Amino acid sequence: MTPSSAIIGTSIDDAATHLRQDGVVAIPTETVYGLAGNATSRKAVLKIFEVKQRPSFDPLIVHTHQAEEFGKYAQVNDRFLAIVEKLSPGPITYILPKKNSIPDVVTSGHPTVGLRIPRHELTLSLLQNLEFPLAAPSANPFGYVSPTTAQHVNRQLGHLIPYILDGGPSLVGIESTILDFSRSNPKVLRLGGYALEELEEALDLKLNDIQLSSSAPHAPGMLHSHYAPKVTLTAAPIAEVIDQHPKAKVGAIRFNTWSKELPKAQQRLLSETGDMREAAQSLFRVLRELDELDWDIAAVEMVPNVGLGLAINDRLTRATHR
Ligand code: TXA
Ligand code: MG
Repeated sequence: MTPSSAIIGTSIDDAATHLRQDGVVAIPTETVYGLAGNATSRKAVLKIFEVKQRPSFDPLIVHTHQAEEFGKYAQVNDRFLAIVEKLSPGPITYILPKKNSIPDVVTSGHPTVGLRIPRHELTLSLLQNLEFPLAAPSANPFGYVSPTTAQHVNRQLGHLIPYILDGGPSLVGIESTILDFSRSNPKVLRLGGYALEELEEALDLKLNDIQLSSSAPHAPGMLHSHYAPKVTLTAAPIAEVIDQHPKAKVGAIRFNTWSKELPKAQQRLLSETGDMREAAQSLFRVLRELDELDWDIAAVEMVPNVGLGLAINDRLTRATHR
């Protein structure tokens, strides 16, 4: 028996109907697809944790359509809202002291909440239509690669949710950058789709305080083994991998150049033109594709450590951990 699957469509009304009944639906964003539910409903939020098989200690991000909404859910001042107006909609999440309108189950008991305005027309219209904000983690089973298309979501979670709002492939392709504004100096909790250099320029300050480790109490979801597909990934050079695994089918994930050490069919480039934005867009699709290949082990080449490259390398490093 094949498992039933979600309806994939573009109807904001259908998505809203499910959400108003405490249902969980997948929504597109510019970063990755989210698994959304009413952030003010304990019942809906518990359903998100259940569908995603997410541990209850890992808090959810709350999505709204405009900066003016922030004051309903978090403590903010006008100076901060000016920053939000400047950077959002876009691939950034702000950690702020939370208000009681957000149930503790959303934030895993933390006194802070992550707020984000996604840059995607369909989801912005949906949020504008709803009477409540949407809690939404990435729409993948816990510990797996985030989805960047409706089909990715459907393959893994389609049998567990009624509706997937299809907004096409995610244009940024990696999750939002998370900045903790609950302290005097903003702290970077996750590298993501908003490059640090651009944020520093927009904010006119240096983001020196970066705390990404898996043990960081402030980002409990940043586990080392996140983004792990089923094929073994290693950061070792191709020649070394071939040497050490003479019987294995070896493949490679590379930035922009073909290696002479393997046939092209056993390689995937993130961006043939060396475009970092395209590399970010391709990353999760390529990692997912590994599950459909007969490779035993893949040698991963890191990309240059500039711009979105830092966030891409962070994902690649986590994917090589098991
Ligand atoms: O781009 C994104 O942010 C996507 C789309 C769907 O918006 N969402 C996303 O959610 O990546 P998720 O749940 O997969 O990752 C959210 C991360 C987790 O690592 C979580 O620990 C952290 O945000 N987080 C959420 N609330 C937090 C809080 N109050 N304090 C510290 N970290 C928080
Ligand atoms: Mg996630």
